[in-house]
Amino acid sequence: MTDVLILGGTGWLSGRIARRWVDEGAAVTCLGRGSRPAPEGAVLVRGDREDADVYADLSRRDWDHVVDVSSHAVRVERAVDALGDRAGRWTYVSSVSVYSDDETVGADESTPRHPAASPADAYDYGAQKAAAEDAVMRLGERGFIVRPGLIVGDGDPSDRFGYWAAAFARASSEPVLLPPLEGSSAQVIDVDDLAAYIVTATRSGVVNGVGDEHPLADVLGAVRLAAGHTGSVFVADEGWLRAHDVEYWAGPRSLPLWLPTEMSGFMTRSNRAFHASGGRLRPLTDTIERVVADERSRGVDRERHAGLTRAEERALLSDR
Ligand SMILES: NC(=O)c1ccc[n+]([C@@H]2O[C@H](COP(=O)([O-])OP(=O)(O)OC[C@H]3O[C@@H](n4cnc5c(N)ncnc54)[C@H](OP(=O)(O)O)[C@@H]3O)[C@@H](O)[C@H]2O)c1
Repeated sequence: MTDVLILGGTGWLSGRIARRWVDEGAAVTCLGRGSRPAPEGAVLVRGDREDADVYADLSRRDWDHVVDVSSHAVRVERAVDALGDRAGRWTYVSSVSVYSDDETVGADESTPRHPAASPADAYDYGAQKAAAEDAVMRLGERGFIVRPGLIVGDGDPSDRFGYWAAAFARASSEPVLLPPLEGSSAQVIDVDDLAAYIVTATRSGVVNGVGDEHPLADVLGAVRLAAGHTGSVFVADEGWLRAHDVEYWAGPRSLPLWLPTEMSGFMTRSNRAFHASGGRLRPLTDTIERVVADERSRGVDRERHAGLTRAEERALLSDR
């Protein structure tokens, strides 16, 4: 039986990875503080990765595969130090946010990264991921780094992609505010496709875990159709959105998936290596249908981490 240790395993992506491995018949151990349960069939070891001795028991045995999703370089470095010799294979979930170039279209894994964070630096996600990657790279052929782009699917805690399902569903026959569409791309990967890839991939090195690139207009059009929206849409331009204090990508008062011109390559990364190493992508419409159903069941008017409230959207639309 394959012995898998997931540093995490109770979060969104890491939970799906754990569940997938359980389904494949592996013995799965998850390390977390216990904020959420591990998937059924997996063992949860409670511990805080801020504690120096958190890996003591886990390092007394061998693991066929260790997976880490942390975005704190020190935690990843300590884990590699404590468990690296015990692991047959080590997959680290990084991010395309390590790249310093967000403008080049179709850039591959050789794109330069941000400088790796030093312990004294203020927290920066991309720099932390880069430093964490360096620690995993010390494991040579046993190390594997996956750099996901936007991960989407049911249960997404970031509320970004799902915003569009909720926005179209809640508007019903009323207008919806859209970001600039002309020349804009969207590139997303289904959480379960990414989990399946991490469980089954056998290569080492670095691979972008990203989906195929689609015109943003097509993606939002497919979400609109699935959500049953029959109203009109208002496509705003970058200047208008900025003048109205609307943020791009994420967070409050934002339009998720909208990227400014200087980030026009961010959702156009190459996925050649992903496909060549066995990565499979389900049809985007399958993902969209799941997301629409999930947003409806979670409540399209609920408070969100990303997007506009309906009141904000209405106020913006009335200022056209
Ligand atoms: N969402 C995206 O679009 C996107 C894009 C690119 C890359 N990524 C990457 O994808 C990964 C997402 O993973 P995820 O969804 O599983 O993340 P998550 O939902 O934030 O889960 C984090 C896991 O780590 C555990 N954890 C957190 N702090 C800990 C601590 N101090 N000690 C021990 N365990 C701790 C959590 O359990 P407890 O809370 O119980 O401790 C949980 O199991 C991340 O690496 C992220 O950077 C995401």
